[in-house]
Amino acid sequence: MILSIESSCDDSAISITEIKTKKLLFHKKISQELEHSVYGGVVPELAARLHAEALPKILQECEPYFKDLKAVAVTSTPGLAVTLVEGVTMAKAISVALGIPLIGVNHLIGHIYSLFIEEETLFPLTVLLVSGGHTQVMEVKSLTDIETVAKSMDDSFGESFDKVAKMMGLGYPGGPVIEELAKDGDRKKFNFTIPLSQSPLIAFSYSGLKNAVRLAIEKSTKDDYKDIAASFEHIATAHLTQKLKKYFKTVKPKTFAIVGGASANLYLRSQIEELLKPYGAKLLLSELKYCSDNAAMIGRVAVEMYEKEMFSSLDELDIAPRSQL
Ligand code: KG4
Ligand code: ZN
Repeated sequence: MILSIESSCDDSAISITEIKTKKLLFHKKISQELEHSVYGGVVPELAARLHAEALPKILQECEPYFKDLKAVAVTSTPGLAVTLVEGVTMAKAISVALGIPLIGVNHLIGHIYSLFIEEETLFPLTVLLVSGGHTQVMEVKSLTDIETVAKSMDDSFGESFDKVAKMMGLGYPGGPVIEELAKDGDRKKFNFTIPLSQSPLIAFSYSGLKNAVRLAIEKSTKDDYKDIAASFEHIATAHLTQKLKKYFKTVKPKTFAIVGGASANLYLRSQIEELLKPYGAKLLLSELKYCSDNAAMIGRVAVEMYEKEMFSSLDELDIAPRSQL
C-alpha cells in the first residue's frame, strides 16, 4: 500500500491505495473553505497553520495501515510554498520512520489521474484542466508524456469565479456559489465580450472579463447579481469552447476529459458535451467528489510512479511552487 498526502492549497487530505489493485482503502479530506471564506480567498499562512493541525489528525487514523506501507507519496509541486512544505515535511518524516521510499507527485498530473480512481488508465487523451490555479489543455499519452498545448495568460477559469464571488461579497470558493446564483439568471442580459475572440492564439485570458464584470457590478444593484453571474458563466465558458473549437481544427478530439475543481460546473460540462458531439468524441469526467483537490488522485499517480520506481531521496525531494507541465 501507499500512503499519499495532499496539501498544495486549502485541502488537507491523506489516502491509502493498494498498489496491486489500485483500490482506494482509505481517504479523508479536511477542507478549510469556511476559514478562508471571510477573506474571499485562500490566506497562505492561515492555510499552513490549519494543515499543521489537520494532517496529523488524519494520519493518526491511518496507523492500522503503517505495517503494510511500501511507499509514501506527497504533492510536491505546484502549489502554495508554505502549504506544500507541510505535506512534504510529514512525508519525509514517515519515509525515515518507516524506512520506505518517497514519491513526489505533481498536483496537475494528480488531477488527470482523478479520472482513473480504482480504474485502469485510458490514453491517449486530450485534457482540459480547469482549477483555481490553472486553465490548460494537454495532450496526454502516458504518465511521462504530457504536452501542454494551451494555457491561461493571466487568471484561471476557477479563479475568475472566485474573484466575481468576492466582488459580490459572496465568500470563497466562488465556483459553486456563482453556479448556483446563475441558475436563475439570464445568460444574455449582460453582453460581456468573449476574451481573445479575435486573436488566432490558442490561449486563455480571464482578467479582462473579470474587470468587465467588476464594472457591471459597480453599476448594478443586488437584484442584478443573478443575471451578472449567469452572463459571466456563459462568457467564461464560451471562451473555453471557442478556443477548443479552434484547436480541434488541427487536432480532432477522440477522447476528451475535463478535470480540476471547476470541472464540477454543470454548465461547462453541458457546453463541452455539445462541442464534442460533431466529432463523436468520448467525454471523460471525474466523479464529483474527486474533481476538487484530494489525496485519492495523488495516490493513483503514486501507484504508477511506484511501479516505475520513480522515487526521490530525502535531499532530492523539494517543493516547487511554480512548476509547469
Ligand atoms: O482543483 P481545485 O480544488 O484546486 C486547485 O487546484 O486550484 O479547484 C478549485 C477551484 C476554485 O477556484 C473553485 O472556485 C473552482 O475550482 N470551482 C468551480 C466550481 N467548483 C469549484 N468553478 C466553477 N464552477 C464550479 N461549480
Ligand atoms: Zn487542484
